[in-house]
Amino acid sequence: MMSKLIKAINEQYNFEIESGYIYISMAHYVKDKGMDGFAHFFYKQAEEEFEHAEKFREFLFDIDEKPVLAEIPKPQEEFGNFTETFKTALEHEKEVTKRIHELYDLAIEENDHRAKSVLQWFVDEQVEEEDTFRGIIERLERINESWAGLYIYDGELGQR
Ligand code: FEO
Repeated sequence: MMSKLIKAINEQYNFEIESGYIYISMAHYVKDKGMDGFAHFFYKQAEEEFEHAEKFREFLFDIDEKPVLAEIPKPQEEFGNFTETFKTALEHEKEVTKRIHELYDLAIEENDHRAKSVLQWFVDEQVEEEDTFRGIIERLERINESWAGLYIYDGELGQR
């Protein structure tokens, strides 16, 4: 029988997979509009999310809990424009941060030092995730969807 905390960690395991799936959808959206560099960025982001999922999966196995997979909802396919796509990504990361913080609170409540340790890594990681997207949005807001600026930035993000 999974504790409330372990159940919530298992949910987050699934949410990280769902996050990867959402970023693949964002990659499709931008690639379809000719932005291969932005697409590269989102595919890499998806890979990172699957790595996050792996971290939770391995944690569950390490404490002798079998992970349980859930259904993954179909992601959104249209995002408005390039700036809006990255804004949606930032909003998603804020949701992840909120969930990680709730998990951390639960780990404190249940006095689970093992979970606290793995969650601390995620608390720090989320600071970086949000910062990355904020930086990109700042650039895109200056570019203001102009094709000349977008193509230059597409080349840059393709180097990620
Ligand atoms: Fe796994 Fe982007 O948070």
